[in-house]
Amino acid sequence: MNPDTTDEADQPRDPLLELDDVAVHFGGVRAVDGVSLQLREGLIHGILGANGSGKSTLLGAMTRLNPLTRGHMRFDGRAYEKVPAHRVAHLGVARTFQTVRLIDDRSVVDNVLLGLDTADRRRRKQARERVDEVMERVGISDLARMRPSELSYGMQRRTEIARAIVGTPRLLLLDEPTAGMNTAERDEISDLLRSLQGEGYTQLLVEHDVQMMVTVCDHLFAMNFGKLIAQGAPDDVVRDDGVRESYLGKQAADA
Ligand SMILES: Nc1ncnc2c1ncn2[C@@H]1O[C@H](COP(=O)(O)OP(=O)(O)OP(=O)(O)O)[C@@H](O)[C@H]1O
Ligand SMILES: [Mg+2]
Repeated sequence: MNPDTTDEADQPRDPLLELDDVAVHFGGVRAVDGVSLQLREGLIHGILGANGSGKSTLLGAMTRLNPLTRGHMRFDGRAYEKVPAHRVAHLGVARTFQTVRLIDDRSVVDNVLLGLDTADRRRRKQARERVDEVMERVGISDLARMRPSELSYGMQRRTEIARAIVGTPRLLLLDEPTAGMNTAERDEISDLLRSLQGEGYTQLLVEHDVQMMVTVCDHLFAMNFGKLIAQGAPDDVVRDDGVRESYLGKQAADA
C-alpha cells in the first residue's frame, strides 16, 4: 500500500470524512470488509475496483443507507455512524446513484428541486434561483420543462448531478456518473467535476475508466473483495502490482 505521505496534493488537509474499520455484510456476503480511509477537504478522490468489489456499498455506508456491520465513521470530526439516513443531506453529504433515479412524472426542474431539503424548498424565490444557477452550470437549462424520459442518457445523468449539488453539499459522492457516455461527454463531466472542485466541493468518484480516474482524481483508492488494497497518488495506484492483478489485468482480459 502506498503511504499517504507520498501524496499529490501539496499540504495535508483536514479529513472531512473518516472511516475506521468499516464493514457492511449482507448475510454471508462481505461487501465491505474492514475499510479505513479518509476523504480530505477539497480533494477529488476516486475508487477503482472490479465489479462486486464493494464500491457502491461503501458509498451506501457513507450516506447511511447501508447499516454498518462494524466500524466507525466521523464526518467533520463528529461521530457519524449513527446519524439517520434522512439527516445525511442536511449535514452536507449528497450522492448520485449508479443507475439513473429520476422521477419521470415530474419535470427536469422539479427533479433538481428535490435535491433541496424541505425548508430550503419553501423559500421559493431563492430555491428557484439556485436551481436555475445549477442547471445552467451543468448544461441542462434548456431542458427544464421536459420529462426525464425525454432526455438523452447523458442529460439524465447531468440532471442527477444537478440534483446532488443543488443543496451545496460539502461532500459529493458520484457512483459511475459517466457510465454509458462517450469520450466527449466523459471529458465534459471531467471538466465539470474539476470546476466544482474549484468551488471547494470535496468529491468521491467511482468510475471504471482508468484514464479518466487518473486525470480527474487527486487521490485514488483501489478495492478488491470488500477490502482496500491500495491508495495514494493516482499514477502510483494504477501501477501497483496488486491493483494490476486484481483489476487492470481483468479489464485488459475483458477487452
Ligand atoms: N442489498 C444487497 N443485498 C445483498 N448483497 C448485496 C447488496 N448490495 C450489494 N450486494 C453484494 O455486495 C457485493 C458488492 O456489491 P457492490 O454493488 O457494492 O459492488 P461494486 O463494486 O459497486 O460493483 P459494480 O462495479 O458492479 O457496480 C456484491 O457481491 C453484491 O452482489
Ligand atoms: Mg457499483
